[in-house]
Amino acid sequence: MTDKNIAPFVKWAGGKRQLLPYIQEMMPKNYHNYYEPFVGGGAVLFHFTPQHAIINDINRALINTYKQIKYRVDELIDFLTEIDESIPTEHKQYYYKQREKFNDKIMKEEYDLELAALFIYLNKHCFNGLYRVNSKGLFNVPFNNSSAKSFNAENLSAVAKYLQKVTILEGDFELACRDASAGDFVFLDSPYAPLNDNSFEAYTKEGFDMQSHKRLAKLFEELTKRGCYCMLTNHNTEFIEDLYRDYLQRVITVKRYINSDANNRKGEEVIITNYNYG
Ligand SMILES: C[S@@+](CC[C@H](N)C(=O)[O-])C[C@H]1O[C@@H](n2cnc3c(N)ncnc32)[C@H](O)[C@@H]1O
Repeated sequence: MTDKNIAPFVKWAGGKRQLLPYIQEMMPKNYHNYYEPFVGGGAVLFHFTPQHAIINDINRALINTYKQIKYRVDELIDFLTEIDESIPTEHKQYYYKQREKFNDKIMKEEYDLELAALFIYLNKHCFNGLYRVNSKGLFNVPFNNSSAKSFNAENLSAVAKYLQKVTILEGDFELACRDASAGDFVFLDSPYAPLNDNSFEAYTKEGFDMQSHKRLAKLFEELTKRGCYCMLTNHNTEFIEDLYRDYLQRVITVKRYINSDANNRKGEEVIITNYNYG
């Protein structure tokens, strides 16, 4: 397997598969370092496998998994093999046991190889590959009756090989972009802005509220001043349109698999750049 056909090792909300052709077309042709401060499942990273990448996410369990793959992939594969071989015919109970084990380790702050294996296993067998936590930060996604294998060993090894040259950071997006400088490309795929601007609840979804979106827009401006190429994706809402009114905006129609009311511009994403493309 070459760098060119690496697949994400987890399913992740907000994956950019539908936008990949547009992102490819609009990317700068040449750049120095590649920054992805909201890497999530890495759909974009693994598709393009840039040579000098710096990736980041605030999700500590996710970043632990990236690191364990990078440094201990063979042991991780052994661990996952053990987990999969222990799955009984009555899988449901086993899933909830593994989830309890995972949460116990989160509470004890044991960010290690076992946690990474459990992370991949739970992602595969939970409902929709969602990562959702309760107010205490504990994973609470229910079981999804899947008999699939939790992992693909060949792909995990290819991911590990690629990650050898990737810098992996954990924390807030602003800090992750501290060293980005002229000629670097920064791809920003933050949690979505709410589709319905009147919904208060939606503002705090994923802990990324309107203030965070404003802070991100400020960073976009700061990176522009530094001479970085920036590309940002989000829902096409008035709020986002207004926040980035000084930049190029390209609206893309996508299939969306959620319900939303008629007032929303459902099915529209926007790709914003601070440079001309094409
Ligand atoms: C839309 S997802 C990224 C999806 C990703 N491009 C993919 O293809 O899977 C957004 C990510 O931002 C992360 N995140 C949320 N708040 C953050 C923050 N303040 N700083 C850095 N990452 C954050 C979330 O953990 C989540 O993984």
